[in-house]
Amino acid sequence: MRTHKCGELNTQQLGETVEICGWVHRRRDHGGVIFIDLRDRAGLVQVVVDPDAAETFAIAEHVRSEYVLKITGVVRNRPQGTINANMPSGEIEILAKYIEVLNESETPPFPVESDIEVNEELRLRYRYIDLRRTVMQEKMKIRRDVTRTLRNFLDDSEFYEIETPYLTKATPEGARDYIVPSRTHENSFFALPQSPQLYKQMLMIAGMDRYYQVVRCFRDEDLRADRQPEFTQLDIETSFMNENEIMDVMEEMIRQLFAKVINVELDAKFPRMSHQEAVSRYGIDRPDLRVPLELVDIADDMKAVDFKVFSAPANDPKGRVVAMRVPDGGKLSRKDIDELTKFVSIYGAKGLAYIKVNDLTAGIDGLQSPIVKFAPAEVWASILAKTGSQTGDLIFFGADKATIVNEAMGALRVKLGHDLNLLQGDWKPVWVVDFPMFDWDEKEGRYNAIHHPFTAPSCSVEDLVANPSAALSRAYDLVLNGTEVGGGSIRINRTSMQKTVFEILGIGEEEAGEKFGFLLDALKYGAPPHGGLAFGLDRLVMLMTGSHSIRDVIAFPKTQSAACPLVSAPAVVTDEQLKELGIRLIKPAGKEKVKQD
Ligand code: AMO
Ligand code: AMP
Repeated sequence: MRTHKCGELNTQQLGETVEICGWVHRRRDHGGVIFIDLRDRAGLVQVVVDPDAAETFAIAEHVRSEYVLKITGVVRNRPQGTINANMPSGEIEILAKYIEVLNESETPPFPVESDIEVNEELRLRYRYIDLRRTVMQEKMKIRRDVTRTLRNFLDDSEFYEIETPYLTKATPEGARDYIVPSRTHENSFFALPQSPQLYKQMLMIAGMDRYYQVVRCFRDEDLRADRQPEFTQLDIETSFMNENEIMDVMEEMIRQLFAKVINVELDAKFPRMSHQEAVSRYGIDRPDLRVPLELVDIADDMKAVDFKVFSAPANDPKGRVVAMRVPDGGKLSRKDIDELTKFVSIYGAKGLAYIKVNDLTAGIDGLQSPIVKFAPAEVWASILAKTGSQTGDLIFFGADKATIVNEAMGALRVKLGHDLNLLQGDWKPVWVVDFPMFDWDEKEGRYNAIHHPFTAPSCSVEDLVANPSAALSRAYDLVLNGTEVGGGSIRINRTSMQKTVFEILGIGEEEAGEKFGFLLDALKYGAPPHGGLAFGLDRLVMLMTGSHSIRDVIAFPKTQSAACPLVSAPAVVTDEQLKELGIRLIKPAGKEKVKQD
């Protein structure tokens, strides 16, 4: 139908007659001459319709935004002074000979412009129009470049791309399952996979050596900007590689990805940091290393002070007291500090003490704060030294249960980094390693797996049983600018260890047999040492395109309440369908309520 794409035309085709197809981006009537900006995936080109071509002109007079046209015309230079340097086709225009209206369009619900603010519900309802916007077209292109580059790298590195089932059994990745009733097996349900974790382990047991899959995962969990109920992983598993070998290959893949797709050179070697160090210095296991602020432990200084807010957690083994120096933070106003105090209260902090260092050389007299009076000069001197504070700085303090301090001060650190423009560097990847195997769930009175129950510990069965809380796992997360973009581990490949871990997690023999009997069976038949990881593909593309939400890099995402406004899913089903599946609804149709987590 066409000889060229609109956005590809330039001075190389000068004088040629071309045929192009696309959407009317804009139509301007300049008293006698009509200009049409025609748009396709490649971009825009300006078409000029002269009244001399009477029939064509009559058609042009009637076209509206988003009509689909086929235009035949001659490429010519734009007149001096009308060249548009911002457009690849900005030096030329097409003088139209014929226009064929391929289809008309109603007035779209919002204009197809990149820089307009449109309510997201409306964008998703008319996603096919939203996706016509240049910004969205570019994001989809980068997403395609990302998957293509990753696939090429893995294909060249002898990985096999293998598909695994979507209709399967529960896979424990910590979220609720989406379940699908079976018609052929009464009262039985499939679960959609939260990840292909156990299938990829089976593939290693099957001798496939290196596997990958660009795969949809389904998790019914509360949604955020970087979480969707269905999302895409680049899922990877390997045999006979240890964690360092796996991290090295993956690092190389991510480096090539950034270089090829967005022309960014990442560090030659990504730093590796223990989980403990990350939490201690940044309050979080996915630190944004662009932010130069750090939490400094000062419990030792605060044990004996006359201020219970600090001394109580300083003496509590589960408590934590930290100081965080903000260079040049003295300029923060009372109002700023009040707002930050409100901000940390979201995370449960009961206050946000601070000290302004007005004059470092003046000792305690140079400090300005309501809390200076609670401790002697040598305590403050020690804290100034530990934090490396200078005149003009401000120090924030957090004191409470360690979990609250970590969350509140960790979030404050990132907020200040952005608000005060402190970010250093554009891209800061880091591997977080040496995670604990388990954390203790106070409410339930049992251990939870920090990664998943198939992750190998770095100790023996005996040591694991003797002290589960102290055991570290062979897991690793790749964190980029404070976002967890991927995570994985070396897996348990022996039945005895897998059974032990199930026991520690409170999964009894019967339950283990019911849920994971197939895995325990498979481990008996020569399961090789294996391990892998999965990247959140949407998150990677979100970061690489500078998007604020993964919804912007998914063609058809779900809303915050996990619905699709475009096709109106989920939807009620007919009574016949329910009957066939042997399902009776507790509440009759028509009385549905959207549940929000
Ligand atoms: P994990 O649960 O850490 O590990 O998931 C791997 C990566 O997937 C991304 N991710 C998500 N992205 C968008 N929306 C979500 N709801 C969501 N949940 C997770 C994150 C995360 O790092 N089977 C293991 C991997 C392994 O051990 O090999 C797994 O799924 O970027
Ligand atoms: P108060 O004596 O309660 O007025 O508190 C004195 C200062 O300590 C105020 O600036 C409070 O914001 C701050 N503060 C109170 N509780 C905490 C806490 N748990 N961690 C850090 N600062 C706190």
